[in-house]
Amino acid sequence: SETGSLSIIVLGASGDLAKKKTFPALFNLYRQGFLPSNEVHIFGYARTKISDEELRDRIRGYLPKGKEGTQDVSNFLHLIKYVSGAYDAPEGFQALDKAISEYEISINSAEGSSRRLFYLALPPSVYPQVCKMIKNYSMNRSDLVGWTRVVVEKPFGKDLASAEELSSQIGELFEEPQIYRIDHYLGKELVQNLLVLRFANRFFLPLWNRDNVDNVQIVFREDFGTEGRGGYFDQYGIIRDIIQNHLLQVLCLVAMEKPVSLTPEHIRDEKVKVLQSVVPIKDEEVVLGQYEGYKDDPTVPDNSNTPTFASVILHIHNERWEGVPFILKAGKALGSRKADIRVQLKNVPGDIFKCQNQGRNEIVIRLQPSEAIYMKLTVKQPGLEMSTAQSELDLSYRQRYQGVVIPEAYERLILDTIKGDQQHFVRRDELKAAWEIFTPLLHRIDNGEVKSLPYKPGSRGPAEADELLEKAGYVQTHGYLWIPPTLA
Ligand code: BG6
Repeated sequence: SETGSLSIIVLGASGDLAKKKTFPALFNLYRQGFLPSNEVHIFGYARTKISDEELRDRIRGYLPKGKEGTQDVSNFLHLIKYVSGAYDAPEGFQALDKAISEYEISINSAEGSSRRLFYLALPPSVYPQVCKMIKNYSMNRSDLVGWTRVVVEKPFGKDLASAEELSSQIGELFEEPQIYRIDHYLGKELVQNLLVLRFANRFFLPLWNRDNVDNVQIVFREDFGTEGRGGYFDQYGIIRDIIQNHLLQVLCLVAMEKPVSLTPEHIRDEKVKVLQSVVPIKDEEVVLGQYEGYKDDPTVPDNSNTPTFASVILHIHNERWEGVPFILKAGKALGSRKADIRVQLKNVPGDIFKCQNQGRNEIVIRLQPSEAIYMKLTVKQPGLEMSTAQSELDLSYRQRYQGVVIPEAYERLILDTIKGDQQHFVRRDELKAAWEIFTPLLHRIDNGEVKSLPYKPGSRGPAEADELLEKAGYVQTHGYLWIPPTLA
């Protein structure tokens, strides 16, 4: 593996994303020994004129304290240097380059590496100019082995045209293998498990198709609203914030064919095929909602039609999935916080137990919280009588893998960027195909042609969404509730 100097440059270092996600993830990697202090240096860059110490103070409170106390924290913070400058100022990026080069020289003796990872914790509107500055003034030193990579975060545009424009602007400056588009859902443990589950288990191979699957749901719920970020959110809405990226990425992994191998290009080739097979969305297969009180936020316009909830049915026109609805549902300010994938199988033919209405077999993958995979199935009710009941085969991670710490999504993905593994990042054509699916609907919503229905905060969302689900063929099991086991 590569050795020598590695510089991680966090642009937008004093912003929310950097403080809440990027630096804590770097800290966790550091604690686990992935960022050795004799090779790695971290640079923060932003407009605010503050000192190294002031930046460290701002970050400190967000770093989780381990059993070892705060020594780790101060050692980590010590790796961080701050450079201030504008996002379009050559001087700023020259100063940054100078700081990085000095450090590279101090680390590398006669020969070494110049590995530079630029993490853009910034609004996408400044991506093109920042990429240009990096390209012109802050690239890796050409006299040393190494690379320059840039990590970008969603939202990658607002629709197909703006996303394509952004892609081509960045694409003129960097090669595709240098660009890492993060979708942090791809870093979640159970999302990463999908390929293993599907392709390393004989159980699922014959079931995973239109002959057996009745419908698939991919659901994201949050029990809080858009507090504090209404201004951002109102420009985007729940489809751009969650569905077009996070849930659609999950859908790809649920629906794709087996890739030729595990190489990133093979995997992403299969994901793109799924996206390209999705047929245009029909308005009658969409329910939008907006929670009551959303517009009380002073940064949200009084006439906003922006959905904070959406349920959308996608159809995949291919041999495996023709006729199987994929229901993507996401909402803010609902009654609970969870994300899961629910694959509901068809009824058992020739039912002799008359248990048809009791419940269908389901394979449920709970992404969060309480990671689990469980299979809902019918069993004989234990006891003297011959009656049936709904039960489950349950693989609850906290119970099964006691003592195993499940890494944070960002931690894992940043490590991938250092290793140069693109498997869990979104390729340009994938992004384009994802926008192609949602852009016509988004434009109709933006034009007020599809309306958001009001719903009560803390509820399940608009009742119309449950009706849509039923229309899609989902059969709810009444009187069955899976309770994640607690540890004794
Ligand atoms: C982000 C969205 O991408 O994902 C947020 O912008 C959302 O609105 C968050 O809260 C959810 O991520 P997680 O990992 O908490 O499910």
